[in-house]
Amino acid sequence: MPEFDVTVVGELNLDLILYGLPAELAPERELLADGLSLTLGSSSAIFAHNLAALGSRVGFISRIGDDPLGAISLERLAAGGVDVSRVRKVSGRTATGLTVILPRTSFRNILTYPGTMFEMCFEDLDLDYLASARHFHLSSFFLHRALRPRILELFRRLKSAGLTVSLDTNDDPDDRWDGDLHEVLHAVDVFLPNAREAKKIAGTDHLEAAVEQLARIVPVVAVKLGPEGALARRGRERCTSPALSVEVVDPVGAGDSFDAGFLHQYVRDADLATCLAFGNLAGAFSTTRPGGTEAFRERQHLEQFLRHHWRPAQEAGDSLPRATP
Ligand SMILES: Nc1ncnc2c1ncn2[C@@H]1O[C@H](COP(=O)(O)OP(=O)(O)O)[C@@H](O)[C@H]1O
Ligand SMILES: [Mg+2]
Repeated sequence: MPEFDVTVVGELNLDLILYGLPAELAPERELLADGLSLTLGSSSAIFAHNLAALGSRVGFISRIGDDPLGAISLERLAAGGVDVSRVRKVSGRTATGLTVILPRTSFRNILTYPGTMFEMCFEDLDLDYLASARHFHLSSFFLHRALRPRILELFRRLKSAGLTVSLDTNDDPDDRWDGDLHEVLHAVDVFLPNAREAKKIAGTDHLEAAVEQLARIVPVVAVKLGPEGALARRGRERCTSPALSVEVVDPVGAGDSFDAGFLHQYVRDADLATCLAFGNLAGAFSTTRPGGTEAFRERQHLEQFLRHHWRPAQEAGDSLPRATP
């Protein structure tokens, strides 16, 4: 039996969230926020943290700086039950990254200092460690500048070691969506974009057409639709799942939490509808507290939410969704 359910390679940093800033960020003015949260951030770390909170065994590799922000990030991830023994701490001029998020009424500003994330390279990775799992996940494809030329090789090597592989690209800061991504997708078993990303990658404004195209390349495609829930395809099989109705604090990390929920079921060989419904549940749950991981740190809150919204298939006595809106 492998040591981990899922291994992850990715960025590890904090999110600084400032709530309630004015719509216009006027230069030279002192602009006041009415709330602050400094919390474990970055797509990969949020994913790993929340997957462990759901009960999967997770191993994580990253590169951080020898600085206080790196130390807090690492401590938070470890406290969430993720194995961080292979995270590399590197002294030098580059600090651990930081993302500043400004949620506004109808959009958010996301400002990122990538830091060590841009420098993590293939040589930082312990391949035997990564291979001691059933599944491997990578997110923030476009942020791994140094690793990027060898991501395809990494996927191929882990697949030949018997793992399945999932990818969530997240946004492309250059908005180009090109290069080797299409070739990489051919080595992916589960692809997890949001609607915008799916359309950008497929080069069409029509979501249906984008999903159709992606489903011809990747065996399982799950597309996140924000407050509208999500849809999934496995070959010709398709299903949709509405979002759960919750009191939203902020949607930071909802997509990464969705990935955690979806893959938690996928590595347990659950059917597509179960993976999708559990992804929706984890995505919605993450919105109930600030940032991407705060909700998952509250054990009781998670257990209560699961009791309220989730019935396993056997108990539900039907073949379909157990997440109750
Ligand atoms: N307002 C919301 N209410 C309930 N669930 C939500 C809400 N926003 C997001 N979610 C859940 O989180 C998932 C991911 O959110 P989304 O914003 O689409 O992803 P991303 O963060 O990648 O853009 C959705 O598919 C949905 O399941
Ligand atoms: Mg996302």
